[in-house]
Amino acid sequence: MDGNGRWAKKRGLPRSAGHRAGAQNLKTISEFAGELGIKYITAYAFSTENWKRPKEEVDALMALLLDYLRDKEQLAGKNVTIRVIGDRSALSDEINREIDNIEEYTKDRDGMVMYLAINYGGRQEIARAVRRLAKQAAQGDVRPEEITEEMISENIYTPDVPEADLIIRPSGELRLSNFLLWQSAYSEFWFSDIHWPDFTTKDFTRAILDYQNRNRRFGGV
Ligand code: FPP
Repeated sequence: MDGNGRWAKKRGLPRSAGHRAGAQNLKTISEFAGELGIKYITAYAFSTENWKRPKEEVDALMALLLDYLRDKEQLAGKNVTIRVIGDRSALSDEINREIDNIEEYTKDRDGMVMYLAINYGGRQEIARAVRRLAKQAAQGDVRPEEITEEMISENIYTPDVPEADLIIRPSGELRLSNFLLWQSAYSEFWFSDIHWPDFTTKDFTRAILDYQNRNRRFGGV
C-alpha cells in the first residue's frame, strides 16, 4: 500500500492522513477482490524496516492500526476473514489483543481471507522457518540432509495458502521491499504510478485483466 505519504503531501496534509486514507481504501479494494472471487489477499501494512521511520509516524501508524482492528467491520468489510502475519512480539499488548479479537470475530466467514502483514519481512519469515526446522533437527525429528523446499513452505506463516499469483505495487517504486520473498518465486508483478489512496477498483480490475493475459510457464516452455 505504497504512496500514502506522497498522496498526503500533494494535498498539504500530514503523512498520517495519507495512511488513514490508505487504510480506508484497503476495505474498498478487499471487498471488491472478494466479490471477484479472489480467495487470498495479503496487504503489506508495516514492514520490519518501517520502525526506522520517525517515532511520530510509527506511533501514528500503530494508533491507526489499533483503530482499524477495533472497528472490525471497518477493516474486514463483508465476509472477509482477517489474519495477521509478522512478528507480533514487538507489537503492543493492546494491538495483540485486538488482532486476536478480529481473527476470532471473522474466522467463520467463508469469503476471502485477507492477511495483514504487520511487522512483517520476507527474510524474517524465512529465518523463522529455518529456526523451526533447526529446532526439529536438533531434537532428532528431522534429518538436515532431508530438508526440502516443501518443508520450508510448511514452516512459513501461511503453510496452507498458495504462493502469490500476482503482486501489485502502486506508487511508482519497482521493487519488492522484502514482501513475500519465499512465496513470490514465480509471481507476476503489476506496477502503477497511482498512490495507494487513489488506487480504485478500476485500477485493481486492470491489474487482474493484465494478469489474465500473462503466459505463466513456471520455468517450463
Ligand atoms: C507506504 O506508504 C505505506 C505504509 C508504510 C503503511 C501502510 C499502512 C496503511 C495503509 C495503514 C494501516 C493499515 C491498516 C490495515 C489499518 P509510504 O508511507 O511509504 O508513502 P510514501 O512512499 O509516499 O512516503
